[in-house]
Amino acid sequence: MFLIMLGAPGAGKGTQAKLLQRKLGVPQVSTGDMLRAARSSGSELGRRVQEVMDAGRLVSDEIILDLIRHRVAQTDAANGAIFDGFPRTVAQAEALDALSGVNIDSVLLIDVPNEFIVTRLSGRRTCRQCGAMSHVQFSPTSVEGICDECPGEMYQRADDNEESIRKRMVEYREKTAPLVNFYTKKGLLRRVDGVGAVADVASRLEAALQQGT
Ligand code: AP5
Repeated sequence: MFLIMLGAPGAGKGTQAKLLQRKLGVPQVSTGDMLRAARSSGSELGRRVQEVMDAGRLVSDEIILDLIRHRVAQTDAANGAIFDGFPRTVAQAEALDALSGVNIDSVLLIDVPNEFIVTRLSGRRTCRQCGAMSHVQFSPTSVEGICDECPGEMYQRADDNEESIRKRMVEYREKTAPLVNFYTKKGLLRRVDGVGAVADVASRLEAALQQGT
């Protein structure tokens, strides 16, 4: 099963993709995580994307498509994947359509009004080691600053500041939101209310997936 998680920054794509991958047995493929891993490793790619990401702008389609082609060729993605944060432009979506062996079953749009976004993102903390996420207000870790899943340190992403968040929202509106129409026309879009407890949103997503089958 190949799924796409669509939604504004902070809508909960990563949170829900992590839960869904356990349930469906297919890997979460997050282009944001891949780019952050490249940055942490100090690679040439990481250096090239650093400034663009911190400013909240989109990385070039060429770089992203290169990453995706390599990722879907790995054996764990042979039977499916949950794309999180990809595609983000119509050009990326068209390139995904042309990728052999990948047929999208559903596109899950997590709908969250703008007023929730800044609160969600400015309170997010991410584990340096395993990538688990928490929120200082909605899901704090049991020991402050330390991950609940491993001994890793919880940190705040460089792009989770007000200026970058605002830019990311503009990028979303101008370049990613047109995908709602793109996938509605293909009959693949399932819109889910993303406001409420994480478990409630997860139940809505599962229900939407069942309706789609
Ligand atoms: P990326 O990492 O994909 O960031 P994003 O799309 O801005 O999405 P986020 O990860 O910020 O939010 P999310 O929807 O996953 O929410 P989350 O679950 O974390 O991309 C980062 C950058 O990389 C981009 O800006 C760009 O530069 C580049 N990039 C990546 N992919 C690209 C592509 N395809 N093309 C071009 N450039 C690309 O939740 C957020 C917070 O809310 C967390 O703290 C969580 O605990 C909390 N939360 C979640 N659900 C709930 C809930 N129901 N109630 C309360 N709190 C909740």
